[in-house]
Amino acid sequence: MSTLLTVAGVSKRFRGLLAVDRVSFEIESGEIFAVIGPNGAGKTTLFNIIAGVFAGDEGAITFDGERIEGLSSDAVCRRGIGRTFQLVRPFPALTVEDNVVIGALLHRSDVAAARRHARDVLARLDLFDKRGLTASALTLPDRKRLEVARALATEPKLLLLDEVMAGLRPTETDRMVAILADINRERGVAILLIEHVMRAVMALATRVLVLHHGAQIALGTPDAVVRDPAVVESYLGAEAVG
Ligand SMILES: Nc1ncnc2c1ncn2[C@@H]1O[C@H](COP(=O)(O)OP(=O)(O)O)[C@@H](O)[C@H]1O
Ligand SMILES: [Mg+2]
Repeated sequence: MSTLLTVAGVSKRFRGLLAVDRVSFEIESGEIFAVIGPNGAGKTTLFNIIAGVFAGDEGAITFDGERIEGLSSDAVCRRGIGRTFQLVRPFPALTVEDNVVIGALLHRSDVAAARRHARDVLARLDLFDKRGLTASALTLPDRKRLEVARALATEPKLLLLDEVMAGLRPTETDRMVAILADINRERGVAILLIEHVMRAVMALATRVLVLHHGAQIALGTPDAVVRDPAVVESYLGAEAVG
């Protein structure tokens, strides 16, 4: 195993609020790493810093041997980090397939080749039969999978997923878990997963980072983290341990 992503002492302040407070962790190639914590803990802000949406105020981020902090989101994506958005935002008037073709064009100028790749990705996400629908016609579970398809079409080494199970029923959650496990296993794509749905975290993640008020309060295996008293008190509640 080699280190794919290193986040070292990253902070972000919004006016008076310290949204991310000196967070440090590493993700190995091919690992599924989860970030959990209550609403407002700084999870999406941390993602946005990694993805180049905005810069952190301090700290270093190394991806695949190269420093990436301060790069634009396009440059970060071209280097191999694909991300979804917590609030899904496909191009609503485009077809499902064309939404994915846009991602596939990142590394291809040939539209026919991009379309072939997009269809391959759509099949993996169980969306092939819906490829001709407009994105706005999809149900929430389908839209969530379209978000993952759009990110995956850019052929990332690291996939950043921001609450892709939120609002899903248990059967849809299990379907997403199975798809993500397949993508990880078959393509060796590492995944950084922000997630509230603990059953998905427990099923997928090799390690879990817990954020609270921007700071990391625990980092370890899922089993260790859910038994950590500080995590139970700040986030999970006593009923989650058992
Ligand atoms: N663009 C922004 N401007 C000002 N405050 C923000 C901005 N984005 C997030 N915040 C604040 O930063 C904190 C962390 O937010 P966020 O990263 O979205 O948390 P999480 O994803 O863990 O719910 C929250 O208090 C939120 O209100
Ligand atoms: Mg968030």
